[in-house]
Amino acid sequence: MTGSAVAIRPARLADAPGIAAVHVETWRAAYAGIIGDDYLVGLDPAAQTLTWRRWILASGSGDGVLVAEAGGRQGGEIVGFGSVGRRRSVTLPYAGEVYTLYVTVDWQGRGLGRRLLGGLFERLVKAGCESAFLWVLSENPSRFFYEAQAGRPVAKRQEPFNGVLLDETAYAWPDLTGWLAAQTQSSDPPRSPG
Ligand SMILES: CC(C)(COP(=O)(O)OP(=O)(O)OC[C@H]1O[C@@H](n2cnc3c(N)ncnc32)[C@H](O)[C@@H]1OP(=O)(O)O)[C@@H](O)C(=O)NCCC(=O)NCCS
Repeated sequence: MTGSAVAIRPARLADAPGIAAVHVETWRAAYAGIIGDDYLVGLDPAAQTLTWRRWILASGSGDGVLVAEAGGRQGGEIVGFGSVGRRRSVTLPYAGEVYTLYVTVDWQGRGLGRRLLGGLFERLVKAGCESAFLWVLSENPSRFFYEAQAGRPVAKRQEPFNGVLLDETAYAWPDLTGWLAAQTQSSDPPRSPG
């Protein structure tokens, strides 16, 4: 199945176990060697399901969770998700914040990350947020995905996590409407001559 056959849609409560499964799998794959093995081994899908149920229940107009769902109408498989909302601190001058964005390993590289990011940005713009940022571990090669999506590195910090200090980089998009318009143009079919 190609990435274009995957639906991007707002999360429902019933998606929480699928989101939790992707969360645990991608954390173990992406953060091995960065975050301690004890923490990654201890990640519990049942506990994550409860956390994601709470996030989905708390979703309002300006924040929320999107999923990428592969498969048919009988209930597909959650293969990616992202969450977004208003910035959690005022240290950076961007109104919205992408809290999470993960695509399961088997589905990476098929355009789902970009589509989820676009869906999250659309949600922010509808809520009146014209700019956004996110924090990513500086050691995580996925940060180059954000550079490929025209994110600009704007800040660095160290965050305590599981007993160590982790280096993080913030990427920002100062003009979400412009970013979304550029995506639409690049996905328009080429015009036939004449
Ligand atoms: C980062 C992530 C969300 C990207 O999603 P994806 O579905 O794999 O990415 P896409 O297929 O949408 O890629 C879109 C573009 O970004 C590029 N890209 C993707 N990952 C990249 C990387 N690590 N480095 C450089 N470019 C990258 C792709 O080549 C593609 O470019 P193109 O338009 O020229 O073809 C996904 O790989 C992931 O979940 N990784 C592990 C978890 C993680 O670290 N998440 C981020 C936490 S902040």
